[in-house]
This record gives sequence, structure tokens and C-alpha cells, in this order.
Amino acid sequence: KSFTLNSDRIQVNQYETINYLDYISGDKEDVQYTPIDTTNLGTYDVAYTLPSEDENTEDQDAKTLIVDVVRTYDNEIFNPTDVIPETISNPESITALVNKTRKIPEGWVPDDLVEVAGSHQQLRQEAAQAFQKFYDAAQSQGITCYIISGYRSNETQALYWQRQVEIYGEEYASQYSAYPGRSEHQLGLAIDISNQISGDRLTEQVADSDIGKFIISDGYKYGFILRYPQDKVSITNYGYEPWHMRYVGKEAAQEIHQRGITFEEYIEESQS
Ligand code: DAL
Ligand code: ZN
Repeated sequence: KSFTLNSDRIQVNQYETINYLDYISGDKEDVQYTPIDTTNLGTYDVAYTLPSEDENTEDQDAKTLIVDVVRTYDNEIFNPTDVIPETISNPESITALVNKTRKIPEGWVPDDLVEVAGSHQQLRQEAAQAFQKFYDAAQSQGITCYIISGYRSNETQALYWQRQVEIYGEEYASQYSAYPGRSEHQLGLAIDISNQISGDRLTEQVADSDIGKFIISDGYKYGFILRYPQDKVSITNYGYEPWHMRYVGKEAAQEIHQRGITFEEYIEESQS
């Protein structure tokens, strides 16, 4: 007999009743688990075990599900301050995945940042070169592209998060700003662009602009994906950001584009 976890990590709402067996597959009958208390926000381990059928051994099948007890807002977006993120081991990888539950190691900074397309913004060298080609292609089609925000230090990201919390509150900040340490901008692989040079530059109006459409139609050819699509909010756990491009390299970008999947799904599949 055996069982598998359907996923390694889940989020449940505070006070929610957990149906523990819904998160595993296989021979569920004899599986035991250690329940958790969902009255307190935080990150907890649920240990599932299946005792061996051989009475002469203490061997057992054991697996751990990480459960984040969170405050969830509209669109299934949760508050990042409620969880303990895991620290990624590959921040230098072009396909490093950071999100609300995965953070960059403390103090890690990219070592090959360069300025992008004559702006004061920076990206890692490979991403900057790819972006230059994307930018030139847009220009050659008469499409205007303004560079708003590339690499951010941890300090800058902390200011962005705090400012959004102060002005709009944690619910809004949770939708559009990463908690410091958990932003792709800190990897030097994300860039926000707009069709406007002033005013509210990063709003959903970008989606209807020529550059907004160009990101979706042509971004993958240069190794970029639209990281937070409108119809994937429950997977990315961020609001729709038609301005935020992530460099993942041509191979990953092509597959993500063709299959219409998120970066989360792409990485999860490549690991299993
Ligand atoms: N706006 C994205 C989520 C960030 O802050 O990285
Ligand atoms: Zn961004």
C-alpha cells in the first residue's frame, strides 16, 4: 500500500476545517495524520504516515504537507505576512521561482546587473540583452515602450511594500506588491513597462495598449512571459499585472506561452 501528496504546500483560510484526506491520493484507508489548529495564522507541517503491513518492521511511508493558515481576500489572494516562506537555493538561475511562499536568500544580490535600453533601470545581463531585442522589435513596429521598473534592492522593495500598505492597506498591497525578499524584481529578471510616460503608468490600461499586446504576442520570442495573467490569479496569488514581464529564457517562455500555463505550473512539472 502507498499514498502520494497531491501537492507539497497548500493555503487554507483561518478557522477553516481541513479535510486532510482530500490532499492525498492512493490507499487512504490506513493513513494517519497530525491535525493542526487553524485558529492561529502561520505555517505548519501535517505529517501523514502509512504503517508498514509487515509487522516485523517499524518502517512506514511518511510524507509532510506544508499548510499555510492565512487571511485570504478576493481572488484567492492571501496576505504574505501570514506565512513562513521557504528559501530558494537557486537565485542565480534564469528560472528561479519566487512568489508569496518562496523567498530569495537573505543578502543575495545579482552580480551582473547592467542598465537597460538607455534607462536608469537595471536587469541581469542576459535579461537586459534579451529586453533590448524586444524593445528594438517594438520600436521597429512603431510601438512605444516606456521602462518603469527593473531590478530592485531589498530596501527598495521594502519601501514599495510599506508605502502600499500605508496608503491602501494590506489587502491591496497583497495583490500588487511582493513582500520584500519575495519579488522577482530583486532577481534582476523582471521589468515593468508601460505605454505611458506619466500619470498612472501601471494600470490595466496597459493591457489595451500596443505594447501591452506586444508583450503577449511577441514577448516569448525574446524569453519573456507575462507573469501575472488575468485568468491565473488563483495560481500566481497576485492581481492582474499586464505590465510585469519576467525573463525565463526562450525555451521556458516558448513552452509557457504555447501551453498557456503559469510559471508556477511550469516549474512544478519540471520538478516532478
Ligand atoms: N508587483 C510584483 C508582484 C512585485 O512586487 O514583485
Ligand atoms: Zn513588476
